[in-house]
Amino acid sequence: MKALVVFDSNFGNTKLVAEAIGRSLGDQTPVIPVTAMTAEHLRGVTLLVVGSPINGWRPSEKTGHWLSQLKPNQLRNVSVATFDTRVSLIIHGDAAKQISKHLLDAGATLAAQPTWFFVEGKEGPLRPGELARAKAWAKTLMSG
Ligand SMILES: Cc1cc2nc3c(=O)[nH]c(=O)nc-3n(C[C@H](O)[C@H](O)[C@H](O)COP(=O)(O)O)c2cc1C
Repeated sequence: MKALVVFDSNFGNTKLVAEAIGRSLGDQTPVIPVTAMTAEHLRGVTLLVVGSPINGWRPSEKTGHWLSQLKPNQLRNVSVATFDTRVSLIIHGDAAKQISKHLLDAGATLAAQPTWFFVEGKEGPLRPGELARAKAWAKTLMSG
């Protein structure tokens, strides 16, 4: 398994979750900001995790931009798992699900259902326990 974690983050919360997931997947796992992503980063990757804050009921603009540039079949043979960070379960928009849909359109298969982690306010911090939950979620991706 060659894993890669891609994230966007305005205030650092999604970055913390992405880094926790990366550590859980193994010390060598790259954790790359979406703005730095190139096609080269995807070479040989078999497990791709993508995370974004919800911004206005959808993934962040930078995440959306990257997703829109993926080519059909670019993610063939890649298992993917997505997450978002959000303040509330009620008014959210399910960005992680939208990211998964884009990745499936690029030929990927789902390693897990889209999931989410909570922040306590727009700028954070993460709700206590969310990093532990993220690490546990990442472990399930390796066994899946
Ligand atoms: C412009 C903007 C729009 C947002 N829209 C939503 C939203 O629709 N639903 C939600 O639950 N949180 C929303 N939030 C809160 C973000 O989810 C929160 O800022 C994010 O999880 C923090 O992660 P980050 O530090 O990685 O940016 C919004 C935040 C910003 C700045």
